[in-house]
This record gives sequence, C-alpha cells and structure tokens, in this order.
Amino acid sequence: MKTTVFDCRLMELDKHHSDRKGNLTVVGNGIDVPFDVKRVYYLYDVPGGESRGGHAHKALFQLIVAVSGSFSVTLDDGTGKKTFALNRPYQGLLVVPGIWRTLDDFSSGAVCLVLASEKYSEGDYIRDYEWFLKYKEYEF
Ligand code: TYD
Repeated sequence: MKTTVFDCRLMELDKHHSDRKGNLTVVGNGIDVPFDVKRVYYLYDVPGGESRGGHAHKALFQLIVAVSGSFSVTLDDGTGKKTFALNRPYQGLLVVPGIWRTLDDFSSGAVCLVLASEKYSEGDYIRDYEWFLKYKEYEF
C-alpha cells in the first residue's frame, strides 16, 4: 500500500492522574496500540543538536513516545512532510511503514520510547534517501 504522512497520527494514551501521586500511562498490546508489539527500545542521552532516524522501514509499524523531555519527529512520504513536536508522555506518534523519519531537537534528558511491530531486521531499513524516493514511486 502506498502510505502517506496522513496515515501517521498522534494517539492519546490512557492516563491515570492523581494530584497527590502523579501520573501513570498504560499502553496495552492490541488495545491502545494498533499492532502487536514485538520489540521495545529507547533513545536517551542524545546530545543537543544531534539527529536520529534518517531512514524508512518497509514493513515496520512504530509508536513513538516522548516519555521524558521533548523532541521533534519529521515524517516524509516522498511527496509531503509533517513535523510533530512530541513532549507529552501520554501521547504516541503512530508511524506506518514506508515513511522516512528524522528525529531532532532533543531536549536535555529526553527519552524516546519506541514500540515496534517487528523484531529488529536491518533488511527492513531503507537508509538511502534517493532509494527511498524510488521505492515510493513503485509502491502500490
Ligand atoms: P538505528 O535504528 O539506525 O538508530 P536511529 O534511527 O535511532 O538513529 O539503530 C542504531 C544502531 O542500533 C544500528 O547499528 C542498529 C542497532 N539496533 C539494534 O541492534 N536493534 C534495534 O532494535 C535497533 C532499533 C537498533
């Protein structure tokens, strides 16, 4: 399927608030996230001014959460781009396959949690932008 940045969206996650004890957010597999979570990883200690990502995935769905601090995620489908400022632990950005993503503007202490639909596979990555544009042309 030819995916676009409009297939990606910010999702509100379940938030349990207590004035006295603080907050708790739950992400239930197949309940709050629209895919089966097979892997969880997180980015942290990203130096200010550094960017991460700079690739697309062929089959991977991801939910990206700023569990601490803030950063920006720019999504690109080869035709249009959309930038999301992530800074709330109770929101997750759903990123579908076939989208080039770049993460930058990391605040100090930012932690980027990623829930992923597949195990790690280097073969699922598209790391060359020119090749990504060609891939999008032939995606159907
Ligand atoms: P990469 O996905 O390129 O990082 P980012 O998009 O955040 O800049 O991964 C960085 C390195 O970590 C790369 O050598 C592959 C490795 N890696 C794993 O071994 N397993 C994983 O699940 C992930 C996400 C990365």
